[in-house]
Amino acid sequence: MSAEQKKIIFSGIQPTGVITIGNYIGAIKNWTKLQDDYNCLFCAVDMHSITVRQDPALLRKRARDLLTMYIAAGLDPEKNIMYYQSHVSGHAELAWILNCFTYMGELNRMTQFKEKSAKHGSNINAGLFTYPVLMAADILLYQTDLVPVGHDQKQHLELAREIATRFNNVYGDVFTVPEPYIAKVGAKIMSLQEPTKKMSKSDENPNGYISLMDEPNVIIKKIKRAVTDSDREVTYSESKPGVKNLIDIYSCVTSESIESSIDRFVGKGYGELKQVVGEAIVEELKPVQERFKDLQKNKDYIDSIIKKNGETANYLATKTLRKAQKKVGFPVRIR
Ligand code: TYM
Repeated sequence: MSAEQKKIIFSGIQPTGVITIGNYIGAIKNWTKLQDDYNCLFCAVDMHSITVRQDPALLRKRARDLLTMYIAAGLDPEKNIMYYQSHVSGHAELAWILNCFTYMGELNRMTQFKEKSAKHGSNINAGLFTYPVLMAADILLYQTDLVPVGHDQKQHLELAREIATRFNNVYGDVFTVPEPYIAKVGAKIMSLQEPTKKMSKSDENPNGYISLMDEPNVIIKKIKRAVTDSDREVTYSESKPGVKNLIDIYSCVTSESIESSIDRFVGKGYGELKQVVGEAIVEELKPVQERFKDLQKNKDYIDSIIKKNGETANYLATKTLRKAQKKVGFPVRIR
């Protein structure tokens, strides 16, 4: 299929906290499987990160590490557009327009807003509230067809669809209405310590998550400590979220089907399950970690990708932005 015929994918990760195996399984690994069949944009959404206070130097480092990690994990920077959100001003400009097409009531219903404002009670800023509008702008700016994300982003995606449809109903077909792409297995990797909660990069307890940069012995230790239950034999069911989570992780990192992964472990002891899952994660992450460390040393190469891809994203974003600006009645620029 030629590049022009391919559908468009957009997705992003916030450069906040450590990138976990939840982000890897729910997002990055899926992206690597889609990159040949779609025209893809993968963004480090640093503008979203400042809805919670960040250390500036650390945010900058994390954003760069995130783009480096995209490449280390197998995303080809020649094929995919990987860039910083803050380098493309169209995101903020379109977000403003879309703010005027989004209702307070819709934003009030967003689960992530409720959770984050409960957690950061002293800083419930307007950015936190309108975060989903910026996310809609990210997506709609590129006429995105498909958005590969984990389960927790489903509600935001639905709102983006709603906003696009509302705008199109007034002005004609300006935006493609995007579809979510959520994998059947691995879209919600759970915390290793509290398996009824999702694994999160902002978890204060590092035993709850596996960072993509954890050393092999740390990974093995964290999986050994993972909370299961007082049973001894493996079964795969919602009533055993800790055990189910480990099997899901195994299936995703090895790309073995969930059915065959379940068969492999059912009836076995928890010790064996944890040993095999821990080793499978180590094996999956080792080459990624090695490539990441090599790439980090190659400053000029990473800089050139950031520059080139940022320019391409900017070019594409401006096309949609100008269209939306014209539709709402902003004066056309004289060249
Ligand atoms: P963020 O940075 O929290 O997470 C990045 C991606 O990782 C997925 N994810 C998980 N998947 C499975 N199990 C988990 N435990 C887990 N934790 C996180 C998320 O679903 C996501 O796909 N608002 C977004 C970032 C964003 C975005 C966008 C995404 C901004 N603009 C436009 C798509 C399109 C966020 O906070 O993701």
